[in-house]
Amino acid sequence: MADAEFTPLHRLPCETRVLYTMTLLVLGVGYLFAMLQVYEVHAGRDGKSGLSATDLVIAYSGSHADTRLEAALKGPMKDRLPAEEREIIFDWIHASGGIVHRGGGEAEYNRTVKPIIEKRCLACHGGNNPHIPNLSTFADLSGVVEMDTGMDIFTLIRISHIHLFGLTFIFFITSSIFVRASVRPFWFKCAVIATPFITIMLDIASWYLTKLFTGFAWVVMIGGVLMGLTFAIQWFVSVYQMWLFRSPSGSLAP
Ligand code: HEC
Repeated sequence: MADAEFTPLHRLPCETRVLYTMTLLVLGVGYLFAMLQVYEVHAGRDGKSGLSATDLVIAYSGSHADTRLEAALKGPMKDRLPAEEREIIFDWIHASGGIVHRGGGEAEYNRTVKPIIEKRCLACHGGNNPHIPNLSTFADLSGVVEMDTGMDIFTLIRISHIHLFGLTFIFFITSSIFVRASVRPFWFKCAVIATPFITIMLDIASWYLTKLFTGFAWVVMIGGVLMGLTFAIQWFVSVYQMWLFRSPSGSLAP
C-alpha cells in the first residue's frame, strides 16, 4: 500500500476538509475563468467560430497571410506598375521577412524599391489624399508591410514564466489534496498526479515550436485538454471522497 502513510480524505478532520474544499472551490471557478479567457482570446482567429488548432497556429506563429502591400499589389493596385517592378517589391518584402522596420531592409529599400514607388505610386500616395495610405517614406511603407508572425518572443517569454509558476502552484495544491484519495489502480493515480506537470512543460515548449512547425499546435491543444481532464478528476474525486465516501467499514465520513 503505497499511500498507507496518508490519512485518507474521508478521515481528515472536518476543518481540514472545509479548508481543502473551499480551496478547490475557488480554484475550480478560477479554472473556468481561465478556459473562458483562452476561448475569448483565441477562438475565431481563422474566421470560423469555435476554437481549433488553426486558431492556435495563427496565435503563436501568425497567419503568414499577405501583407497589406502585397494584397494591394495583387489586387486593386495591380495595374499601377509593370510585373517585373512588382516582383522587385515582393522580393524586398520577403527578404526582410515582413519586419522591415526591425531588419536591415532600409538600404535595399533605398536602392530598389524607393525609385519604383516614387515613379509609380506617389502621384496618388504622396500624402495629399488623407483617405489612402501615404507611402512617401521608408517608415510609411513599413507600415503596410508588417507581416503577422504571431505572438512575439518577448510576449511568449513573459507568459511562459507566469504559466510555469502559476500552474505549478495550482497543481501542487490540487495534487497535494488528491494524494490522499483512495484511487486504484495505483499507476492511474500516479498518472493523474504527474500528467498536469508534464503537460505544462510540453504545452509551453509547443508555443515556441509551433513557430517552426505548425503541427505543434495540436500538442498545445491536446495538452490543454489533458490538463483540464486531470484537474477535473482530481477535483471531483477529492471533493466526493471528503464528503460522500463510505469507508470499507460502511460508515459515512464523520
Ligand atoms: C491613380 C492613383 C493611385 C496610384 C498611382 C496608386 N494607388 Fe494605391 N491606392 C489608390 C487608392 C484610391 C486607394 C484606396 C482605395 C483602394 O484600396 O482601392 C489605394 C490603396 C492602396 C493601398 C492600401 C490598400 C489597403 O489595404 O487599404 C496600398 C498598400 C496601395 N494603394 C499601394 C500602392 C502602390 C504600391 C502603388 C504604386 C505601385 C499605388 N498604390 C499606386 C490610388 C492609387
